[in-house]
Amino acid sequence: MKEKLQAIKEEALAQIAEAEMLDKLNDVRVNFLGKKGKLTAVLKSMKEVAPEERPAFGQLVNEARVQIEAALEETKKNLEAKALERQLKEEVIDVTLPAKKNNVGHRHPNTIALEEVERIFVGMGYEVVEGPEVEYDLYNFEKLNIPANHPAKDEQDTFYINKEIVLRTQTSPVQARVMEQGKLPIRMIAPGRVFRSDEVDATHSPSFHQIEGLVVDRNITFADLKGTLEQFAKELFGENTKTKFRPHHFPFTEPSAEVDVSCFKCGGKGCRFCKGSGWIEILGCGMVHPHVLEMCGIDPEEYTGFAFGVGLERIALLKYEIDDMRLLYENDARFLKQF
Ligand code: DAH
Repeated sequence: MKEKLQAIKEEALAQIAEAEMLDKLNDVRVNFLGKKGKLTAVLKSMKEVAPEERPAFGQLVNEARVQIEAALEETKKNLEAKALERQLKEEVIDVTLPAKKNNVGHRHPNTIALEEVERIFVGMGYEVVEGPEVEYDLYNFEKLNIPANHPAKDEQDTFYINKEIVLRTQTSPVQARVMEQGKLPIRMIAPGRVFRSDEVDATHSPSFHQIEGLVVDRNITFADLKGTLEQFAKELFGENTKTKFRPHHFPFTEPSAEVDVSCFKCGGKGCRFCKGSGWIEILGCGMVHPHVLEMCGIDPEEYTGFAFGVGLERIALLKYEIDDMRLLYENDARFLKQF
């Protein structure tokens, strides 16, 4: 039996040494160590060995198994290393091939315009804050002096979530939220998405963006509002831009105004761009209504403030001379890339 074991071991080791492929190596493992393998067969025929010799013989079989397994393992490693080397040699990388073109994205005109507006106001010491897009009716309307039956509520065709919650129709509710925090003075702008149940056309979309502005401090007057917005218009549209304040009505400001800038295309002479008038409307503004200050916990006898609201798309369309708002939402990279 011992000789037979020795012979099996040598045969196995010889076959391992000869194996040139990994699957051949696996055949060897099955043939010798598998369930029906030759070494396993030796173990099964232990009964032929004299009982007193069985422990010693059993040990020999185990030693043979260990040796064969070690040889298998080592040869496997060698073969794998060789296979890898062969593969690396075969798959040479051609460094002279032209590189794949990397498609770099592009900032959206809205983003470019917003960053410009933020740069201007941050430069004047304003903070940029954000408010929720899903808002309480309380902030979107009530605290801005638009109570339940106020006609101004109808002007902003609102998406209601329920009686108390709406998709905000304007960024003005951020004013109320910031004032309520009670940290004075306030100098902030609040950009963000707003929603109105409007039909899509060249100048309307159910979802667009506004930038709200608010300043509250002691001794703030309409002169501060005018100076600030004049400076803003100059920085945005050019040093020669003139500004015109037209009386208007907003429930949360008193007095209120709409601001036009002189047409930067024709310099005010009148052209197709400004529809012949020489002026382009860009925003709404006014002095914060004392009642609004009061509702937000600020004493109107001690503090005054001004506010304004700009349509971001309007700025982007004007600045980049885009004549249809829908182009901003189609996300055609060929269009967006131009700005
Ligand atoms: N929220 C107004 C709108 O959507 C715009 C506006 C006008 C905001 C005057 C203001 C303001 O803060 O003072 O039409």
